[in-house]
Amino acid sequence: RTRWAAAGVAVLVAVVGNFVLSSAATAQAVVPFSVPLRIPPVLQGSQVTIQMRQADVQIMPTGPPTRMWTYNGIFPGPTIRRPSGQTSRITFRNDLPANFGQATIHHHGSHSRPSEDGQPDDFLIPRGRQRTYVYEHMERGEPEWAVTQWYHDHRMDVTGRNVWNGLAGLFILDDAFDSALPLPKGEFDIPLVIADRTFDANNQIPYNFSIVGTLGDTWLVNGRPQPYFHVGDRKYRVRILNAANRRPLVLGLSNGAPITQIGTDAGLLPAPVQRTSIIVQPAERVEVVLDFAGLLGQNLLLMDTNTPATPGNPPKELMQFRVSRDLRETSSVPASLRPVPVFPAPSKDRSFVLRATTDAAGVPTQWTINGQPFQSGRIDADPVLNSTERWNFFNDSPQPHAIHLHDVDWRLVRRFQLAFDAGGNPVPGAELPIQPAEAGLKETFLIPPQTGFSVLTTFTDHVGPYMFHCHMLEHEDMAMMATFNVRAA
Ligand code: C2O
Ligand code: CU
Repeated sequence: RTRWAAAGVAVLVAVVGNFVLSSAATAQAVVPFSVPLRIPPVLQGSQVTIQMRQADVQIMPTGPPTRMWTYNGIFPGPTIRRPSGQTSRITFRNDLPANFGQATIHHHGSHSRPSEDGQPDDFLIPRGRQRTYVYEHMERGEPEWAVTQWYHDHRMDVTGRNVWNGLAGLFILDDAFDSALPLPKGEFDIPLVIADRTFDANNQIPYNFSIVGTLGDTWLVNGRPQPYFHVGDRKYRVRILNAANRRPLVLGLSNGAPITQIGTDAGLLPAPVQRTSIIVQPAERVEVVLDFAGLLGQNLLLMDTNTPATPGNPPKELMQFRVSRDLRETSSVPASLRPVPVFPAPSKDRSFVLRATTDAAGVPTQWTINGQPFQSGRIDADPVLNSTERWNFFNDSPQPHAIHLHDVDWRLVRRFQLAFDAGGNPVPGAELPIQPAEAGLKETFLIPPQTGFSVLTTFTDHVGPYMFHCHMLEHEDMAMMATFNVRAA
C-alpha cells in the first residue's frame, strides 16, 4: 500500500487544491457586474409540481442562451419554501431528453423515509413519468426546525453530469422560532446559489468528466456570471449554497470586513460567529448576515478569496452589491441564536478510511471508503433505530473530500491530524481545532487530506437504507459512497 506523504503546506492550500485547467480560452469575456442578480421564484404550496425539462437559459450577458437540464426551465431551479413540521407533496415530472435517462431527486439535508430520499438506484422516475415525493419536514422528530436545504439529481454514476447540466435548487424550511428572531426578513432575506461552469464559444457547458473533480472557469451566482444587486444600507440575511461539483469557495468581502455567520447546513448556530474568510465546500451551506450600514453610495464585492486569478480559473469577484437605497434598519442579530441539541453518549464507534486506488503514475482510478467502491445493496453500517453512534472519518488520500451523510444531522466532536499504527492503519493523531462555526449541527463536512474528524448522531424515526458519500460529485460517481441501514431495535 502506498501512502501519500502528508503535504507540508498550510491547511487552506490543502483544502482548496488549486487546479489550472488547460482548456482553451474560447468562452466570451464577461463584463463584470453587467447583469442583475436573479432571485429564483419561490414555490410555497403544500402540493407543487416541478417539470424537469431541457431549456435554453440566458446565463451569459451576451450571446446565445445555454442549453441546460432544468427544474421548471430555469437555473437554479425554483426555491421550495415550506413551514417545517407540515407535509409537502412535491411532484417531479421527467420530461428530459432520452440521453438523460431516469431521474431521482434527493432533498439534501432532509430527514425523510428512504423511499422519499432520492436514492441513486431506487424509486426512479422514467422519462415521461412523474413521482410525488412526500416530505414531513420533521427533523429528528422535531416539528420546529428552520434550515436551508436543497434538492438535486442523485442518479447513480451520473450525478456530476446531471447537476452540472442544471438540476439543483434550494429547499428552505421556516419555523416559528426562527421567524420570531429579529433577523432580516422578506426582501432582505436572499439566497445565493454559487456554482462554477466552463463555457464554450457558443455559451454551452459541455460536461468534461475528471476523476479528481470537474471544475469550471466561470463562477455563476444564481445562474449568472458576476451579477450586481441593489441593496439598502442595512442588514441582509444571505443563504449561500456551494452547488459546484468540485470547487470550494472561500468567501470574503472586498473591504475585508468580517462576515457574521448565523447558520450552517443544518440550521442556526448557537451564536453568531464573525469570520473574515469562510470556506464552503460543495454542498455545504452557510447563512450569513451582511451589513451594508454606512456604505450608501458604495459598492461591496463578495469575493472567492481562494481562487487564483490565473487562466482557467474563475475571477475572484463573485458579485457586486450596490448600496443604493437609503433604508431604515429593522433587524438585528441576537447574541444567541438556537441551542444545539445534545446527543446521548455514543454506544458504538465506526471508522471509515477514505482512499483512492491509483494507476502506475499515481493518478486516481477510483475512490474508496474502507477499501471498497460503492456497491448497491451492500450494507456498510447498520445502526439501530434511536441509538447514538460516533463515526470517525480518516482521509488518507491526496485530495480534500466533502463527506455528506443522509437522513440525520450530526455534531462535529473532533478534528485531528492522521497518525498511523504499526499495521499502517490511520488513527487519530494531533488534535486540530474545531471552529466556532462548526458548533452547530451539520451534514456535510470538509475533510482535508491527511486529517480526520468524528461526528455524533442519534438515528431517529426512520429505518432503512441511506447513503453517505463524498459530495465532490465526480468522487461520488467514482464510487466514494456507502450505505448505512438503520435497523429496528
Ligand atoms: Cu446532496 Cu447524497 O447528496
Ligand atoms: Cu471526495
